[in-house]
Amino acid sequence: MTLKRQVGVLGLGHVGLPTGLGFAELGWTVVGTDSDRAKVEAVNAGIPPFYEPGLEELLHRHLNSGRFRALPEIGDAVRQADILFICVGTPHREDGSADLSQVEGAARTVAENLDAYKLIVEKSTAPVMTALWVERAIQRYSNGRRDFEVACNPEFLREGTAIRDFLQPDRIVIGANSEKAKEWLRELYEPLARPMLITDRNSAEMIKHASNSFLALKISFINMLSDLCEAAGANIQDIATGLGLDPRIGAHFLQAGIGYGGFCLPKDLKAFIHVAEEHGVNFNLLREVERINQSRVDRFLRKVQKALWVLEGKKLAVWGLAFKPHTDDIRDAPSLHIVRRLRQARASVRLYDPEATREFQRDFPEEPDRLVYCSSALEAARGAEAVLVLTEWPEFRNVDWKQVRASMALPIVVDGRNCLDADALRAAGFEYHRVGEASLVGEGVGIAV
Ligand code: UGA
Repeated sequence: MTLKRQVGVLGLGHVGLPTGLGFAELGWTVVGTDSDRAKVEAVNAGIPPFYEPGLEELLHRHLNSGRFRALPEIGDAVRQADILFICVGTPHREDGSADLSQVEGAARTVAENLDAYKLIVEKSTAPVMTALWVERAIQRYSNGRRDFEVACNPEFLREGTAIRDFLQPDRIVIGANSEKAKEWLRELYEPLARPMLITDRNSAEMIKHASNSFLALKISFINMLSDLCEAAGANIQDIATGLGLDPRIGAHFLQAGIGYGGFCLPKDLKAFIHVAEEHGVNFNLLREVERINQSRVDRFLRKVQKALWVLEGKKLAVWGLAFKPHTDDIRDAPSLHIVRRLRQARASVRLYDPEATREFQRDFPEEPDRLVYCSSALEAARGAEAVLVLTEWPEFRNVDWKQVRASMALPIVVDGRNCLDADALRAAGFEYHRVGEASLVGEGVGIAV
């Protein structure tokens, strides 16, 4: 490493913290900062503000190595850094468009503290032309200073594997105008030795929105196919395998289920549809992707109802609340809608998730006998008339099905993620329902008469 640059990270959330620690792991010195003082304090005390595998260890390692620390004053972080990554939130507004107020706020803070040449890098997912606006904002609020540049370097971190995704990315996309900005970013990522694509800023921004939209499209495609499988009598797992063996299609993101959630795919799809409309382009294809995804909850609940007949008064175990495994994140998780609807149907629920319970409790406080949080999958199943699987945590595959069955009132499992071993369940005497398999959900199998 020839240069000694200090990296700054604005925003210590799901993107900023793994990114800052990732750069520290590559040997760079990093200062992070966040407008939430409590978060800064927690991070400096070695406590990650959310669950992400490997994050805590990495945080401890680089607080100890001295290569990472969090600063309470954003201005201090701006002044100390040569390269500043904007990693703040870009939630969606009512109309689906991205709310860029935090990005503008970061740009203004940079402007107010600009004391020497800096490279500002937009890492948060934002619509095309955001880098241009960040540049304008910094110029306006710094009285026309020009000793800075703005580049775009979209993140492709998945929750649950964010550290690995940072350290072993499939690609690094850099959108920059000047040779200097390209060179600095190239050098920053050089230790990774991974494929790097250098584009203009607008294209880099659009690569990110297009990637998440395409992933959402793949999921909705497989979910529609799973509906067809149920209607026509075919098996979605075999179809996904058959499709995935064609390298032009690829095997990833063909897992049918209760749909995509999380803070990224749903909001980025909305924002991208909005961007297209603003530019006069009809991208109704993506509207359909969204509609299909939203219909998953109804579809799943119909399956539950078909298995149990009347939901009122039923005791149901819910396994998995996080929007995906290996995270405690429940933002836009299908579980939120499903649990709400089960409550409306007057079923009582026994909830279990290895990590997301605390988050879920904020929206759904415990109510004796009606909504109960459990400390294990087995405990949740106790006395239940069905187990509903909403997140594919690996531990659910490994439960002792005989023991689960012995503790349940009825041996019924409705698997919204197709993640369980059908043979093991049937061998243990379960009535097992999953997504996209007509033979298992046909008439007479699930209806309790
Ligand atoms: C997503 C992208 O995958 C990352 O590349 C991107 O960097 C990130 O958004 C972001 O923009 O920050 P993430 O939201 O962590 O990552 O989660 P995914 O792994 O994409 O899963 C999203 C949802 O799709 C989950 O609810 C998951 O259960 C669902 N899913 C995924 C399916 O229903 N089927 C599949 O085959 C795959």
